[in-house]
Amino acid sequence: MSDCNNRYETAFAEFFNTKIAFSFWKGRVALYVMLKAIGIGENDEVILPGYTCVMDVNPVKYLGAKPVYVDIEPATFNINVELIQEKITAKTKVLIAQHTYGYPCDMDAIMKIADENGIDVIEDCCLAFGSKYKGRTVGTFGKAAYFSFQWNKPFTTGVGGMVSTDDVELAERIESLRACEMCQPSGGEVLMLRAQLVVYRLFVYPRTTALAQAAFRYLTKKAMVVGSSSTSEFQPTMAKDFFKAMSSVQARAGVRELKKIGQNIAHRRKMAEFYDKLFGEKGWPVRKYDSSVIEPVMVRYPVRIAEKDEALAEAAKAGVELGSWFECPLHPIETPLGVYDYQIGMCPEAERASNEAVNLPLHPRAGERTAKRTVEFINRFTLVK
Ligand SMILES: Cc1ncc(COP(=O)(O)O)c(C=O)c1O
Repeated sequence: MSDCNNRYETAFAEFFNTKIAFSFWKGRVALYVMLKAIGIGENDEVILPGYTCVMDVNPVKYLGAKPVYVDIEPATFNINVELIQEKITAKTKVLIAQHTYGYPCDMDAIMKIADENGIDVIEDCCLAFGSKYKGRTVGTFGKAAYFSFQWNKPFTTGVGGMVSTDDVELAERIESLRACEMCQPSGGEVLMLRAQLVVYRLFVYPRTTALAQAAFRYLTKKAMVVGSSSTSEFQPTMAKDFFKAMSSVQARAGVRELKKIGQNIAHRRKMAEFYDKLFGEKGWPVRKYDSSVIEPVMVRYPVRIAEKDEALAEAAKAGVELGSWFECPLHPIETPLGVYDYQIGMCPEAERASNEAVNLPLHPRAGERTAKRTVEFINRFTLVK
């Protein structure tokens, strides 16, 4: 483990005031190692929201367990806590609380259900860095939490993942799995990732994002870049080099990003409020949540519209940065849902959200001018309340 990785892990644990953090090549690796350290295996069941990324489901399948999907509630896109109990069986071992778009889940209800049923909670904080629930930062409620630093996340190191936990026994098991099973990224991968980070810093701005994403997806399919997801990751079979360490290039970038995290969070809050104001002026109140309970730090600003596909196609031509998560209950749209135990109709609210939600940029490169331009663009379409 390099000095940089140690520094990044220590700074990360300090930010969350947790005992320990462990860095990995990607967020999905962080989830895999936590589930394995908990002892998840054949015949176990893991509860997830039916509105997630398939890369979140792969580690469950790699370990031979069954993903069980719970529908979302429409305002925050988070797991509907009213529907969890009916999905719990004697086989349920873990519940993944994914804080979607930055909205914290209803953690009181989740922890109560988990305690009553003897289930471990893992928090998916890949889309929520610094969000608070009843004054407490998300990522500090469950047995452990994990984070992603892929391109679209609260901050990026190209790809990257982290586990944070206060559970000493779990930490010891993770440490031993790292020592016995983890491989290192190749020199070629690290060099390519370093080059990609430079290209990203120099060239990827709101007006160029659609073009950059299209080029990135093409190059990923041709295996010419370090992609977010290779074609083989759309099948629930684990590649032999999946359990991979974070490189020092990522860790160095992560340390730099953590130093700026206060500004990043403040910017996201300010921008989300600015969107609230712009949409409010158009008579489109978009965010609906109880601010005395949750303080979200949004990764993107979700808006529901009737003509999602048309809007995405036009945005790409117009140089407007419009995101399309989640395109289906197990994003992205290429996912063979049946292979992942999802049947259409299982989570109707998640399916509706997939057809309607687009998301707007809040990252530090998007300022008020970008927000105004994006809202003017969205205003051409029909808001769904
Ligand atoms: C909610 C959520 N959790 C987990 C992941 C997986 O993170 P990573 O891409 O770093 O493996 C993603 C996708 O990127 C995600 O959107």
